Amino acid sequence: MSALKILVIPGSLRTGSLNAKLAAVAAHALGREGVDVTRISLGDFPLPIYDGDLQAKSGVPKHAINLKRMMSAHHGVLIVTPEYNSSVPALLKNTIDWISRVQDPHETRGQVFRGRVFAIAAASGNKLGGARALAALRLILSACHAQVIPNQLALAFAEDAYDEMDHLKQAVDSDALKALVRQLIDVSQRMM
Ligand SMILES: Cc1cc2nc3c(=O)[nH]c(=O)nc-3n(C[C@H](O)[C@H](O)[C@H](O)COP(=O)(O)O)c2cc1C
Repeated sequence: MSALKILVIPGSLRTGSLNAKLAAVAAHALGREGVDVTRISLGDFPLPIYDGDLQAKSGVPKHAINLKRMMSAHHGVLIVTPEYNSSVPALLKNTIDWISRVQDPHETRGQVFRGRVFAIAAASGNKLGGARALAALRLILSACHAQVIPNQLALAFAEDAYDEMDHLKQAVDSDALKALVRQLIDVSQRMM
């Protein structure tokens, strides 16, 4: 059987992002389990704010098509999102909106989400750890007919969660990450 392929997408572009750090930790954990991991930055896929007139005039932007095809080439996707005003950042929502408009030949629009396995995680400085953003993201992905695994990780007080090597300090956090990674692998393998 070919290696399981997982795409890891941090939802923040910020230098020193707590979510990018969590995405890196998760990517390493997946790699240790033998997964073929691709970790990207949405900074490499800049997209205009979704506008139906723009799509009608110019079509779906190349970066959205490339992201969609990258998703298609992976068995599962892990999204690590910041929480902005109790929801997902515009960057992430806009990216999902554009990808959901992609229609490759012989496919329905937004087909890349259908049945594809997604895991979600968040990191935030407060005690909720971005749990409200996770609820919003779960709803968005579910509306796209994605299969979002039940386990999720909300990393609370994330500014103090990492050591000087950017590893998770607390066993409770690394255990939650391990459980997330395990379930993502198990469910994705079943879908292979
Ligand atoms: C516009 C904005 C809104 C925010 N709203 C929330 C919020 O609702 N809940 C929360 O936990 N943190 C909130 N934060 C703080 C972010 O969680 C914090 O800046 C975090 O470090 C951002 O993620 P990053 O480090 O990956 O860039 C907000 C930050 C910004 C810039």
